[in-house]
Amino acid sequence: MATHTNSSSPIALIVGAHGTVGSALSPLLTARGYRVRRATSRAPHAADEVHLNLLTGEGLSDALAGVDQAFLMAPPGHVNQDVLLGPAIDAARAHGLRRVVLMSAMGANADERSPLRLAEKHLQASGLAWNVIRPNWFMQNFNSYWIQGIREQGQIFLPVGQARGSFIDARDIAAVAAALLTTDTHTNAEFDLTGAEALDHDQVAAILSQATGRTIGYTEVTPEAMRPGLLAAGLSPEYADLLLLLLSYFKAGYAERTTDAVQRITGRAPISFDKYAHDYREAWA
Ligand SMILES: NC(=O)c1ccc[n+]([C@@H]2O[C@H](COP(=O)([O-])OP(=O)(O)OC[C@H]3O[C@@H](n4cnc5c(N)ncnc54)[C@H](OP(=O)(O)O)[C@@H]3O)[C@@H](O)[C@H]2O)c1
Repeated sequence: MATHTNSSSPIALIVGAHGTVGSALSPLLTARGYRVRRATSRAPHAADEVHLNLLTGEGLSDALAGVDQAFLMAPPGHVNQDVLLGPAIDAARAHGLRRVVLMSAMGANADERSPLRLAEKHLQASGLAWNVIRPNWFMQNFNSYWIQGIREQGQIFLPVGQARGSFIDARDIAAVAAALLTTDTHTNAEFDLTGAEALDHDQVAAILSQATGRTIGYTEVTPEAMRPGLLAAGLSPEYADLLLLLLSYFKAGYAERTTDAVQRITGRAPISFDKYAHDYREAWA
């Protein structure tokens, strides 16, 4: 596998390059001999960064010029993913990209009119070589979105009852995206991505306790009790309601299913929750 790049190496654009998945994807593509162009909505600070704001479309054409492959995702916090991603897909086609991988979310295709599903369909109808990946809930939510209760009160506070989720490590999503972007094996296919096992939040709390040496528990809360905290964290009312709706689907059991897509695409088993908790244990110190 190539580890050096030169001016004739293919260029891969990563939208969300500073995010949880994108930051893991970057080094994987570089290791495969790709020149990586990292998109940011902020002012670029490095030679491989490019300014791209999906909310305004600013920077879209420059970001895609000369690009061979692109990884697309919608920044969290917005409920109109089709509006944000449509122009990026059109620009990818206009610039003649060889392939686009779109990160959606597991369950997005349960409603043909959901904004994420509309974005998926836009890509699938674009004439571009495409992949849609739909990850389940990320393991990394426990060291980001849900971290405050764990750190301050030793509790995971969520309105999800005893339902189980086949959480996926974002590093596996990146590994899948890297494989799909750089090979032709799975052209024009969609994949639901999950971990190997489904766990409830008591089991998650027990694993986090084991990894950290702290006692961490799970407390079920109502959606109504959770909403003010989401608003206080800066979420818009629309996005807070979307998140609570998605959590209600989790509670109803829709996040329990497992797939073999990570194994099939990367050739190795998904990262276990135990390994995730061990690798990130400093986060909950
Ligand atoms: N968390 C989950 O459990 C879960 C499950 C399934 C699917 N997903 C999907 O995963 C995606 C989030 O991925 P992630 O967790 O890797 O991201 P993340 O860590 O939340 O990072 C968000 C990224 O979006 C970029 N960004 C913010 N505003 C932007 C804008 N206006 N234009 C362009 N880029 C912008 C940020 O970069 P800059 O600040 O540099 O611009 C950053 O790289 C969402 O689409 C979500 O639906 C998440």
